[in-house]
Amino acid sequence: MMTKNITTFINPFSLGIDLETGNMPQATNHLVRRASDMKGYYMNEDALQELINRDANPIHYEVFEFPVPEEYGHLMYCISKLHPGKIGEEYFFTKGHYHKVEQTAEIYLCLKGEGYMLMKTNEGKCEAVRMERGQMVYVPPYWAHRSVNTGVIPLISFCVYPAEAGHNYGDILEQGFPRRIVEIENTVRII
Ligand SMILES: [Fe+2]
Repeated sequence: MMTKNITTFINPFSLGIDLETGNMPQATNHLVRRASDMKGYYMNEDALQELINRDANPIHYEVFEFPVPEEYGHLMYCISKLHPGKIGEEYFFTKGHYHKVEQTAEIYLCLKGEGYMLMKTNEGKCEAVRMERGQMVYVPPYWAHRSVNTGVIPLISFCVYPAEAGHNYGDILEQGFPRRIVEIENTVRII
């Protein structure tokens, strides 16, 4: 038998999600990325360092999870909460990742805030899809994905993906995404 087809039996459950704050009180995993974790990702490294010094290394984004077995058949889900702000002209974003199992998709349902889902492929394709409350983004298999907050409140999304997908930060730290989302003359620009 192929081990990838083993799916652990668990009992049904439910849990609460605060749709205003994104908090998931029963979450057992709370991933916190602070500004210092974002070194190397933004264009203006000095502006990032200024933020770290000025605001005591503030939280950049958070992920709340109550995990299920990371196996084929299960669905992993989380709340992603990306705080608002800019590093220089560039809006706050998440590191972004491919899935380790690259043929797995993901759904993001935006609960609050506004911004974009920036997506790219290894073949050089790049797309920016608008996110706002009530908007669902389908991230197809093979696409790396990064959220960008262009608003003034946290960008909060509920995400669901195959539990065996895993995360692969791939070339993103070295190469970034082909496009960046910046504010120029009070206007959001995708450059
Ligand atoms: Fe993902």
